[in-house]
Amino acid sequence: AVAQPVDRTIVLVGLMGAGKSCIGKRLAAHLHLPFTDADREIEAAAGCSISDIFARHGEQAFRDGERRVIQRLLGNPVHVLATGGGAFMDPNTRALIKERAFSIWLRADLDLLVKRVARRNERPLLQNVDQRQKLAELMGIRYPVYAEADLTVDSTDGPPEATLARVIAAL
Ligand code: S3P
Repeated sequence: AVAQPVDRTIVLVGLMGAGKSCIGKRLAAHLHLPFTDADREIEAAAGCSISDIFARHGEQAFRDGERRVIQRLLGNPVHVLATGGGAFMDPNTRALIKERAFSIWLRADLDLLVKRVARRNERPLLQNVDQRQKLAELMGIRYPVYAEADLTVDSTDGPPEATLARVIAAL
């Protein structure tokens, strides 16, 4: 790929455990751009954790806040933005990302997702369920939509630098 100046915010989409935050941070450092994590911004705006938002106000309230926060972040100067796994599923958010940013789907297979989410067991959608089954279900629903991203890069097991290198090569 030909190296191009980054003129739009780069938005990472993909399922929980795909490595959006991990790769996003590294990509931002590589490009000398700021990094923003939408989930952390939502928590800062709400003054509590995502688990607390789900528990106290429900998923719909979380989705509404997520939509507003991402809309605001897309108005910021060019940066790298990692979104939560559900963000790109919202038609309005998706349209805005498509219009204003460059989107990258970090695609991972089920085994890898299952392994990765087990490391951080706080995601509300994965509580008290068979995580493999839930992730498989979400893959079925979401992968056709994530495929609308401008670019798809496979996130694989091993050092993040390997996935990062594929992202950079594909830009
Ligand atoms: C969600 C993914 C989470 C977080 C919330 C809902 C989802 O973000 O936004 O728990 O619907 O896939 P990560 O993808 O960063 O885990």
